[in-house]
Amino acid sequence: MTGYADDLALAHRLADAADAISMARFGALDLRVESKPDLTPVSDADTAVEREIRALLAEQRPDDGLLGEEYGATAATGARQWVVDPIDGTKNFVRGVPIWATLIALLEQGRPVAGVVSAPALGRRWWAARGTGAYAGPDATRGEAIRVSGVRELADASLCYSSLGGWEEAGLLEPVLQLMRDTWRSRAYGDFYGYMLLAEGALDVMIEPELSLWDVAALVPIVTEAGGTCTDLAGRPAPAGAETSAVASNSLLHSDILDRLARPAAR
Ligand code: IPD
Ligand code: CA
Ligand code: CA
Ligand code: CA
Repeated sequence: MTGYADDLALAHRLADAADAISMARFGALDLRVESKPDLTPVSDADTAVEREIRALLAEQRPDDGLLGEEYGATAATGARQWVVDPIDGTKNFVRGVPIWATLIALLEQGRPVAGVVSAPALGRRWWAARGTGAYAGPDATRGEAIRVSGVRELADASLCYSSLGGWEEAGLLEPVLQLMRDTWRSRAYGDFYGYMLLAEGALDVMIEPELSLWDVAALVPIVTEAGGTCTDLAGRPAPAGAETSAVASNSLLHSDILDRLARPAAR
């Protein structure tokens, strides 16, 4: 048992409550979808899941801080903060694609120490806390240890990304396209799913030019405990702030990827 066993158990209970709400709304004919100021969609499921998690955390961990995508941060707190993305993959959710998840992270002094990722429409959950190893299964009671791949060569590697637009804005579209040519294959699965496939050893590298803290905080402990490495493009531990670039890999390929994306002019 680690020092985070109670926190992980609580995160699983939060995920159970989230799953009940989100699955009742997934595919519902009366799902309400609005557009946020940044023109991305938000549904009544996103807001209902976050409200439920906030209520449960206020009851169970009144002294901890909380940041959620839809309702923001609670007032200043001590060293511990929960970070929640109520539905990651809202565009999939509103179109009936089952690749979406509730992401729940616990941070200490700004570093993620525990994470639960629950994807009920896929029938799958992933979790880890510092020092426990990473697990996946249909629910918290049926987890099996997971591990990143042993792929060492880019030519044998599967690369995952979310979309190409952000790389264009970052001025790195050409090196990313070259990476795609040089890897065995590349796929866009969306963020949480790419990270979880990486943690399971089903793909080897995940790259993102810009993510918010709630997109990545729960994913980092799972990938790290599965033997992977998560940094930003400069090689600093991810998440490197409220907005962060993100490179995750099976560790073996990490420096190759950072080199490729750090020196575009040299290519
Ligand atoms: C989005 C997803 C998507 C990524 C976007 C995120 P949301 O989160 O993670 O894969 O490309 O940058 O905003 O809005 O569905 O929680
Ligand atoms: Ca969103
Ligand atoms: Ca998200
Ligand atoms: Ca979200």
